[in-house]
This record gives sequence, C-alpha cells and structure tokens, in this order.
Amino acid sequence: MKIAITGKGGVGKSTLSAILAHLARRDGRSVLAVDSDPDANLAFALGVPEAERKKIVPISQQKELIEERTGAKIKQFGQIFKLNPHVSDVADRFGYTFQGINLLVFGAIEAGGSGCACPENTFLRNLISHIVLQRDEFVIVDMEAGIEHLGRGTASGVDVMIVVVDPTAQSVGTADSIVRLARQIGIREVRFVGNKIGNEADRTYLENHVDAQKLLGFIPYSDRIRQADRDGLALMTQLDGELLRVFETIYEKIKMVDGP
Ligand SMILES: Nc1ncnc2c1ncn2[C@@H]1O[C@H](COP(=O)(O)OP(=O)(O)OP(=O)(O)O)[C@@H](O)[C@H]1O
Ligand SMILES: [Mg+2]
Repeated sequence: MKIAITGKGGVGKSTLSAILAHLARRDGRSVLAVDSDPDANLAFALGVPEAERKKIVPISQQKELIEERTGAKIKQFGQIFKLNPHVSDVADRFGYTFQGINLLVFGAIEAGGSGCACPENTFLRNLISHIVLQRDEFVIVDMEAGIEHLGRGTASGVDVMIVVVDPTAQSVGTADSIVRLARQIGIREVRFVGNKIGNEADRTYLENHVDAQKLLGFIPYSDRIRQADRDGLALMTQLDGELLRVFETIYEKIKMVDGP
C-alpha cells in the first residue's frame, strides 16, 4: 500500500508518518518510509538517535550516485542528461534501516528550486515514481504541501493521500488547495486527519471545514508529543495507551481505504 502524507507546514505530517511507519512494522509489514520534504525531519520523528541522523546523507546530496546515473553534473544547468536514470536499486542500497523500517531521505534540491529540470530533480522524480509504482512494500511518503512534483503518472500509484489538518483557518485553506491539486493529478483517494485538537470546538471546526465523511480521526493536542519533540525522545515509545489507540485506529482506517 502506498500512502502520501501532506498538509501545511508544522501540522504534524512527520509525526503521523513516523507513528504509522512503526505501526505498520509492528503489523508485520515491510515498511519503506520516504522523507520527501526538503526540510527533512522524518528521521527525528521516527526516533533515530542524533548521532545516527547525522550520518544520513540525503539522496539529493549523493553526488556520485546522481552523476553516475544521470550522466551529468549536479547543480549545473544546460546539460544533457538521462531522463530515465536507473533507480530501482536505490531504496535497498541507500536506505537507512531503523527498527526494521527502511528510511529514505530525499533531501532538498538547491539549484533553482524543486521545479528545476536539473539532474538531481530528474533523479528524485524517477525515484519517487519507481517507489510508488513498482515497489510492493507498505510505503509512507512524508511530503510537503506542494504535491505537484508527484506528477500524474506517479499519483495513480498512490492508494491514499492523507491531508493532516489542525484547527486553524490556514491549515484548512492549505488542505483545500491540496485537495484541488490532488484531483488534478489524479490521486484516487483523499482522507483527512485532524491533529492538535484541544477541545470539542476544534473538532467541530474541522468537521465543518473539511469533508467530514473523509475524516479518519482526531489526534489530541498532547504534551507527550510536544515533550518528546523537545527532549529528542522517540515518540513511539512515549505514547500512552489512549494516544496509541488513536493512532492505531487511524492506521486501521487507512488500511480499509485499500479495501477491507
Ligand atoms: N498532537 C500534537 N500535540 C502536540 N504537539 C504536536 C502534535 N503533533 C505534532 N506536534 C508538534 O508540532 C510540531 C510539528 O510537527 P511535525 O514536525 O510532525 O509537523 P510537520 O507537518 O512534519 O512539519 P514540517 O512542515 O515542518 O515538516 C512538532 O514540534 C511536533 O512535536
Ligand atoms: Mg515534517
């Protein structure tokens, strides 16, 4: 199953992605977690210790790999390069395994922004496309709000896109744009997860501002989550029973989207 997690900056995409990855692993799945957000923090959310995190070199900075596969120099424009570089071995060879989860960090593309037709961008686009269309693991992609780079062909391989929303007008506004974009590129199923819910009014706000039928659940605003982040503790180990059940229910509902 292929899941893309998106939403406005800071709503809790990486938090949700990380917990889902751990739950899928616990469920016996083979899990590939992809951090495609340029401002990568999925490794942190998964609980990878700092010393280990520092060793992870994002794919976009794997100069030799990209240059060998595309036949061109990174961070340079006006070159001829392969539009279809070989990528099928990248997840296995360049992923970082943490507690049974294979983590692949894409990293930021510096030259000309994410829309540039540079070798590194072409490489990453091919890689995400390969992962979504060809791999058969439980794939979780932690994305930024701009989902354009998925492209039409790739979007067809995404089983469900989860839009994380918190009870703010801004996050709901971003969610609306994401839903529009998702439709344009052919994402089949979109669902919402409400996060940082402080009270009943927050819940009602979200029920009234996104398609309530498609809300998979509400994650409370939690001091445990905040403190785990502050103290650099692996969140998965910090969830108490009640909070864990909230995530488990969301995980089960996501699996149902693919067919019960
Ligand atoms: N339910 C919650 N209760 C309290 N704090 C939360 C909750 N969910 C997330 N947070 C905190 O909010 C911050 C942002 O969360 P997270 O990094 O998961 O968001 P994000 O959408 O991935 O952000 P970015 O767009 O920067 O990648 C973190 O400090 C996280 O610990
Ligand atoms: Mg994030």
